[in-house]
Amino acid sequence: MKASASVRRKHEQLAAEVAAHNHAYHTEDAPTISDAEFDALFRELQALENKYPDLATASPTQTVGAPVAAGFAKVTHAVPMLSLGNAFDAAEMIEFEERVRRFLGLSAEDNIDLFAEPKIDGLSASLRYEGGSFVRGATRGDGTVGEDVTANLRTIAALPRKLENAPDVLEVRVEVFMSKSDFRALNERQAAQDEKQFANPRNAAAGSLRQLDSRITETRPLHMFAYGWGEVSDNSVADTQSGFLDRLSKWGFTVNKLARKCVGPAAIEAFYDDLAAQRADLDYDIDGIVYKVDRLDWQRRLGAVSRAPRWAIARKFPPEQAITRLRGIEIQVGRTGALTPVARLEPVTVGGVVVSNATLHNEDEIARKDIRVGDTVVVQRAGDVIPQIVEVKKRAAKSKRYKFPTACPICGSEATREEGEAVRRCTGGLICPAQVLERLKHFVSRDAFDIEGLGSKHIEAFLSDDLLRAPADIFRLHQRAPEIEQREGWAAQSAENLIAAIEERRSIPLDRFIYALGIRQVGQATARVLARNYGTLEAWRTAMEDAQDLDGPAYAELTGIDGIGPSVAADLLAFVHEPHNVEALDDLAAELDVQAVAPPQADSAIAGKTMVFTGTLERMTRSEAKARAEALGAKVAGSVSARTDLVIAGPGAGSKARKAAELGIEVIDEDAWLALLAET
Ligand code: IVH
Repeated sequence: MKASASVRRKHEQLAAEVAAHNHAYHTEDAPTISDAEFDALFRELQALENKYPDLATASPTQTVGAPVAAGFAKVTHAVPMLSLGNAFDAAEMIEFEERVRRFLGLSAEDNIDLFAEPKIDGLSASLRYEGGSFVRGATRGDGTVGEDVTANLRTIAALPRKLENAPDVLEVRVEVFMSKSDFRALNERQAAQDEKQFANPRNAAAGSLRQLDSRITETRPLHMFAYGWGEVSDNSVADTQSGFLDRLSKWGFTVNKLARKCVGPAAIEAFYDDLAAQRADLDYDIDGIVYKVDRLDWQRRLGAVSRAPRWAIARKFPPEQAITRLRGIEIQVGRTGALTPVARLEPVTVGGVVVSNATLHNEDEIARKDIRVGDTVVVQRAGDVIPQIVEVKKRAAKSKRYKFPTACPICGSEATREEGEAVRRCTGGLICPAQVLERLKHFVSRDAFDIEGLGSKHIEAFLSDDLLRAPADIFRLHQRAPEIEQREGWAAQSAENLIAAIEERRSIPLDRFIYALGIRQVGQATARVLARNYGTLEAWRTAMEDAQDLDGPAYAELTGIDGIGPSVAADLLAFVHEPHNVEALDDLAAELDVQAVAPPQADSAIAGKTMVFTGTLERMTRSEAKARAEALGAKVAGSVSARTDLVIAGPGAGSKARKAAELGIEVIDEDAWLALLAET
């Protein structure tokens, strides 16, 4: 069919577009569309030319890559460097085999061995060896003429400089690439030096190899896999593709170990599935599989059409990036109170899976990428990794900068962010439904309220059936005893036992009470220091409220306590600043008898000393010994150092006692320790 004027115009436009993208990708190493989008454009152009063959004369479908960039010497390839035809599904693979069969006049019963190699996503280079020595290396360029990058290639460790028993002339075709880990490290270095970041490992590899100054290439970690050859002066090197790669490997080239021989559609598909599953775990990018007719005599007979061999085809993996619209940003609250932004997307297929959500990491990430609701964004999904937004592609009209919420979307409590932290957190832990399960588990745990018979499973079940909502409800469970008895797995006796265990804990020392609240950074040690310093719940609570004034004496007292720095203080203040917490705390306190804790005895024999317990104590537990020592104003440490004043060693004491002896620190046994306690 002859093309009409309007078809011609359309073709011209499409061809110009493809040519421009070719230039951006091959010459600038800075593509402006995804590979998948390019493939789609290219296919559209091809389809048009198939319908109107007269259009195909001057078209990018007939060429490979892009011409040599300014600054590089030109190298004419003795054998052109071709491109590959693509197959996008199993049916197109079967068509490929059929074409090969037809061309070679084979019957349906004839097996065709295909050698399948990962298609490395880097850039190809041709390495010329003469008399066994590396003499010249070039990029693909437009397939006929490439750029002379000999000096740059010489900086790559994987490039063999000398070959033993090689044909007089041997051109080896390799894919030069950068590993994913090296790419990330390079980008970090580039960022630190305020230099340009690369979009992906392929661009980084291309940008590194196509340097006019090979001293820069030398600093870039490049690798290569050999996959083919150009001019070879001796035809007897091998009979098959796989055999040729074995020879290349013996000469010292790196060949990809994942390559396999496949016979028949089932094996072809199995290898595809296998490699697709491994893809994310490989430390280099692959964008598909190249299936090659293994027999070289057949390869020769098959030859090439304009830009691609008839004996090979690239089966592409689904693209790992796609473009879609950001419908909204939703904030999720984790079990620890962390606010995590999640992108709600217009569903789009990425890497073969429909994606409608992506992570936005945190507040700073959104600000850094200036991601706004309504924007058109690039979504990436690499293997099993949670999909993420790479960048904004197109800004939505009348968009506003995203404002990260400062209140918890679940419970309405204040959400604060500490200096130097990336995460904003809900401070309403005790009542926030997103966090309450974790909080209650902590609340009843061994070192906190230690309520026997109220394990995680029960807490979970009671929460979901509304028997519990906040800590204080535990102490009102007796009112619901009839309901508990009726529950599956419960009986009158077990319910009674639970209520009794709860009653036993209605009276609790202040330090355990504070620890049970689950305030960030307030562990057992901090809770104990606070309890000893303030003595009573009322005093502590008032002090925390007064300390909200950072210039006042209460704040000075708080941060003056040994072991309480500004960061712990900030978490304490944030907790009390949230009205929901104070409400929950008062509600809880009304149910309890919180026992005062005596301040440490300043005049005891061990006040102010640092002690270490080691070995077995026979007359009191380690926790009791520790509590007694601390009540007498001592500090209990876990390991012996120059700052240790006294070591109490029971039977079985080992390295700690030895170290104490070495440092000349006083070591006493349990009897002496008991005597010391009796004295004070
Ligand atoms: S064979 C004439 N094998 O893919 C044969 N190519 O789209 C052409 N590539 O220019 C190539 N891994 O840069 C072949 N195992 C492999 C490959 C591979 C990566 C690249 C190569 C080539 C492009 C074709």
